[in-house]
Amino acid sequence: MMAELLSLRDWRCSIDPQGIAWAVFDREGESQNSLGQRPLEELAQIVDWAERGARERSIRGLVIGSGKAKGFIVGADVREFEAITSEQQVIDGVSLVNTLFDRIERMPVPVVCTVHGFCLGGGLELALACHWRIATADPATRLGFPEVRLGIFPGFNGTARSIRQAGALSAMQIMLTGSMLRAGAARGMGLIDELVTSPLNLAWAARRAIQRNRKSKAAGGWKALLRFAPARGLLAKRLRTETAKKVRQEHYPAPFRLIDLFEAHAGDLEAMKLAETRAFAPLMLSDTSRNLRRVFKLSELLKAQAPKDLKFKPLRVHVIGAGVMGADIAGWCVASGMEVSLQDLNEEQLNKGREAQKKLFGRKFKTRAQREAAMARLIADPKGFNIPRADVVIEAIVEKLESKQALLKSIEAKLKPGAVLATNTSSIEIEKIAEALSEPGRLIGIHFFNPVAQMPLVEVVRGAQSEAEQVAKGCIFVTSVDKFPLIVKSNPGFLVNRVLAPYMLSALQRLERGEAKEKIDEAARTFGMPMGPIELADTVGLDVCAHVGSILKLAPAGASKLDQMVAAGKLGKKSGEGFYVWKNGKAEKSKPEQPYEAFELERLGRELVDPLIRECERCRDEKIVDSADLVDAGVIFGTGFAPFRGGPLHFRANEQKSNVEPLRRTAAA
Ligand code: NAI
Repeated sequence: MMAELLSLRDWRCSIDPQGIAWAVFDREGESQNSLGQRPLEELAQIVDWAERGARERSIRGLVIGSGKAKGFIVGADVREFEAITSEQQVIDGVSLVNTLFDRIERMPVPVVCTVHGFCLGGGLELALACHWRIATADPATRLGFPEVRLGIFPGFNGTARSIRQAGALSAMQIMLTGSMLRAGAARGMGLIDELVTSPLNLAWAARRAIQRNRKSKAAGGWKALLRFAPARGLLAKRLRTETAKKVRQEHYPAPFRLIDLFEAHAGDLEAMKLAETRAFAPLMLSDTSRNLRRVFKLSELLKAQAPKDLKFKPLRVHVIGAGVMGADIAGWCVASGMEVSLQDLNEEQLNKGREAQKKLFGRKFKTRAQREAAMARLIADPKGFNIPRADVVIEAIVEKLESKQALLKSIEAKLKPGAVLATNTSSIEIEKIAEALSEPGRLIGIHFFNPVAQMPLVEVVRGAQSEAEQVAKGCIFVTSVDKFPLIVKSNPGFLVNRVLAPYMLSALQRLERGEAKEKIDEAARTFGMPMGPIELADTVGLDVCAHVGSILKLAPAGASKLDQMVAAGKLGKKSGEGFYVWKNGKAEKSKPEQPYEAFELERLGRELVDPLIRECERCRDEKIVDSADLVDAGVIFGTGFAPFRGGPLHFRANEQKSNVEPLRRTAAA
């Protein structure tokens, strides 16, 4: 019986003296397990083998686990999705897997799943088909259904099985948000049956579960009731309202189709399984899903900007300037586990900046001990005593060339050999700042965006004088603080501000020409931007916008409407008034007398993003970043550009492919 399974490449199988079969998933040549075609075919062989063993009574239980240190299974293999071209192909492929999972569920001997690390998407669906699920109560263990982020929902019958185990409310919420759960929360919800403290205890606990023939119970009581009428209809309605507050159905259909599926079928979970496949197939082929898969790949492309073969492990960071940016950069690095010293001329500002990080630590760390340890790792260092120990030094002082030059010159000799020296400048040429240094090749830009905690992208700026190794190290630092690095050639506005500026400026010009700000903002959101350009200008601060505009020579300094507003103290959200009046962090918007026509918003939305797209094309042609894909990646993660459209250049290329010339067409209209 064993011989035929020796040929497996992605799994290892064995039977121990007690008759327990162990199937260890360890995908060949990969650091993480994902459910691709070959691993699934091999799993089918394992199921054949286990069924036969169970019939012949040579196997009394099966344990499914992982051979990877980092996790159980990260999900289906997204790379294989692109080969799929028809709904029938989706239905056929998914049905095969579902039959396999059903056989696991019907196995006559107990099947136990052991989880440490990531257990996501298809991995969690496999776990849910097993009879008993054991996970480590380790912070690294994370469970969830990230499918909606890829424009789909669980397709291996995870919709019905998660509702069965956790009840409709919890299961729908985790599927609709795509959020990840810790093991304890998953246990509380009923997705996990048993927790152990360490991965070393998993095998022992699995053996005991098999000996005791443990079987997970479906959700009972009120949790179970919610999937039946009339509660189901009410819940579906509530979920629709909540989801519509976050995303638009026309942009992101998957969560809405999931609610439809739930409402129509959750009363009969077997019927729901079949309906799931039918509803899943068209989503898988939708443009939204294709584009969101592209965004996922773009995020991997950004991470790959940090070379794997360079030995550099930043542990200590020194930040100079504890203003808006410096303090938050320091806090973010601490939250990522680093030790950070923070320097400022102004001690009051230094203390204020340090204290302000308590809010972030409160969100990031669960226990008081962790929060106190974080505060202890954020060292106030007004004199810069820690500079010689730092692996990375980031300058974030006032935006003045002479001040930056004088500061960097004064610290250069103190730096540890091999340490990264970076400036967070958003508008001064790196080359100019570097002129003051005796080793100008050392200086790079590490440009964080405001607010630091929320913005996923960091531009790593390569000045003409910057050494390649310093740029590479800068990228490694950025990935070590869990952000996406983008290498950008030094030029005014780098990439993100350069493409945002003409977009915002042209929106402001429309405003001056008499177009309603509410309409402009609504049109941009209709296109898929997270926030309209006028509201964005208010949020960024009109002083900052005016400054960037003058740097990019888009508007002569002092003459524009922006400058007049800044002179009048109207700075936007931070001063309580800009283009909008702001109350409790929200812009007050007036409603139009007549609702805007949908086609008109669509037309205006497309026109609004046009200057941004054109600037992206110029950045691509000027090789500001290494490829067109990296332009898209930077603009999606740096500005929030409509992810479901796959990026500005990708969107434009698709338009050209389908011969759409929206601007000409509308001009004639
Ligand atoms: P800020 O004015 O809030 O803070 C600057 C801090 O540096 C002040 O606390 C000041 O006391 C301190 N400082 C000035 N000279 C110093 C010196 N020689 N030694 C030590 N400390 C000194 O400035 P903000 O907004 O934080 O900007 C800092 C840098 O970050 C600038 O280069 C800016 O262009 C860049 N940046 C700003 C963004 C923003 O949204 N505010 C976004 C991205 C980059």
